[in-house]
Amino acid sequence: MVIKKNKVLAIIQARHDSTRFPGKVLKKINDQSILEIIIKRLSKCHNISKIIVACSDNKSDVQIINLCKKLKINYFAGSEHDVLERFYKASLKYKGSNILRITADCPLIDYAIVDKIINNFFSANVDYASNIDPPTFPDGFDAEIFTFKALKQAHKRAKTKMEREHIRPFMLNNKNFKKFNLESIEDYSSIRLTIDEPEDFKVIKNIINNFKNNLFFLYEDIINLYKKKKHIFSVNMHINRNEGLYLNKGQKLWKRAKKIIPGGTMLFSKNPDLFLPNFWPAYFEKTKGCSIWDLEGRKYFDLSMMGIGTNILGYSRREVDGAVKNIINKGNMSTLNSKEEILLAEKLVQMHPWAGQVRFVRTGGEAAAIAVRIARAATGRDKIAICGYHGWHDWYLSANLSNSKNLDSHLMKNLPMKGVQKNLKNSVFAFEYNNFNQLKEIVSRHDIGAVVMEVSRNEIPKNHFLDNVRKLTKNKNIVLIFDECTSGFRETFGGLHIKYKINPDIATFGKALGNGYAINAVIGSNSVMNYVNSTFISSTFWTERIGSAAALKTLEIMDKIKSWRIITDIGADVKKKWLQLSKIHNIKLDIKGLDAMPRFDFINKNNLYYKTYISQEFLKKKILAANSIYLCVDHNQDLINRYFDILDSIFYKIKKSIDSDSDVEKLLEGPVCISGIRSNY
Ligand SMILES: Cc1ncc(COP(=O)(O)O)c(C=O)c1O
Repeated sequence: MVIKKNKVLAIIQARHDSTRFPGKVLKKINDQSILEIIIKRLSKCHNISKIIVACSDNKSDVQIINLCKKLKINYFAGSEHDVLERFYKASLKYKGSNILRITADCPLIDYAIVDKIINNFFSANVDYASNIDPPTFPDGFDAEIFTFKALKQAHKRAKTKMEREHIRPFMLNNKNFKKFNLESIEDYSSIRLTIDEPEDFKVIKNIINNFKNNLFFLYEDIINLYKKKKHIFSVNMHINRNEGLYLNKGQKLWKRAKKIIPGGTMLFSKNPDLFLPNFWPAYFEKTKGCSIWDLEGRKYFDLSMMGIGTNILGYSRREVDGAVKNIINKGNMSTLNSKEEILLAEKLVQMHPWAGQVRFVRTGGEAAAIAVRIARAATGRDKIAICGYHGWHDWYLSANLSNSKNLDSHLMKNLPMKGVQKNLKNSVFAFEYNNFNQLKEIVSRHDIGAVVMEVSRNEIPKNHFLDNVRKLTKNKNIVLIFDECTSGFRETFGGLHIKYKINPDIATFGKALGNGYAINAVIGSNSVMNYVNSTFISSTFWTERIGSAAALKTLEIMDKIKSWRIITDIGADVKKKWLQLSKIHNIKLDIKGLDAMPRFDFINKNNLYYKTYISQEFLKKKILAANSIYLCVDHNQDLINRYFDILDSIFYKIKKSIDSDSDVEKLLEGPVCISGIRSNY
């Protein structure tokens, strides 16, 4: 079948603000705006009889309208609804058989491929949207060819005026759709072609190859081919890949990430499968306060990990960002040193008078490794006792070499640790929090040079635990290292050890110190820190200026607003309300953690399922939530109240599921989440 000339209407939806990249449609490439390029490409396309640019009547679209006037292109301006109405009215007028719809920021830069698609696909009802970015396909790439299902659904629902008066008649009057007998139509949505990734172009290529003797094939022809050769389609042609319909942009990127980045992410705790496989937004566009915008521009409140504990003062804190911008303007790196590191060191020592000297690094793992090196240098003893999580380095993971379960409660079960130097075996020994006898036993059996521990995380110290640890280490001349990477600044202005009035020999700080900018500190008494000069500890980017400047501003604001009190109060309230809710619904919860970063687990074999369900239901309400909250100063009472209203109904459903002993998987719309760090359930 050959398409008759002058039979195609092209509608370009070019609303200035309707895309993920506002303003991109007017972005210039080689002196022409993207919209101009699209229009010119389409004008050259011999089958297209008419081009209409549809935009909003928003003031910012005036430029689009002016461009249309200049190019003598029809345009239509109105609200989003008006534009769609116009689209469907036009499709009626043109009998709807040959419509090419291009949305907003579609640069159509890859001419060769796009020409092929345009010339070969618009014989059917084609809905083509593309965000192809030159020169390859970065994250903005997303093209749709058929939206048959969308039309079909709209037809069936016929809920809105537009659906009743336009889509439904449009489909009923359309000869292509008529043939399919809409009322009893099979669901062909699985052959809707969605081009999300470069490899999806293979599908197009395969289809074109299949029809190479008659390139003017119809959508119907594809359906017929699909019916006849379903197996070929799904196996060889990937025609069944229909993920675009179900996966959000973040999830599509996550699939790409896993192919190119081992493990998909540099930080285990940011794996979206820890929260809600297939649905977690996974990637962000921007942040502010306790809000995150995903790649589709949807705004969520973050009542989960808040940057994995980095942003006590909220995301994109204006004053901190301002201090960083100031550094960017003046210069971040140079042959000479930055004065900010001295100011920050002096500040940290002033906050912790037991300490005399400070080194800076950029990550918590580095800080712990350096603290251990200094301790070994100071004592001349290599063996270490640990309690808690202290990063990814060999020295720490080696605790598992003698028994693969040693780090189960400190890090995770089934810890993968190939490549950790095997002759480090029996150099690091783990002890459980509050088990002083276990530590005493380790110290009596091994020549321990340092004890590295978190001051408190999930449990509070009992029976003078910290006091006993301090006395023992002092008596045995062991360096006591408090890893305050996570606990710092959450209950006190500085280390949590200030609260317990126990001073270590070294403390490390990270996470919240730069409110989202990379900076970690190792502070220590003069007597141990002097040993830094007896070893080699040095790295280029430990000297960059942004980290110190961000930390100085962060500390200034923390001190001013007493942020540790704010987040501790909110967190204590959250814990209280979790407990109340668990009693109301008669659900057994294990509630723990510092008040400023509380968590709970269901005391139930299905804990992970319920946790996934929580994330699933909160996501529908535009809240990122799981079973723990890193609180920040922007988590206000209204948000907490809203959180508990929603959690109430979630707990109700969970309780029903527990009581009815029904299949727990029925709660979930996707797979259950994977188990995370320090999860005992
Ligand atoms: C107590 C503690 N130490 C060290 C680390 C490792 O820090 P980083 O991920 O910055 O290397 C963490 C991270 O969660 C931590 O909580």
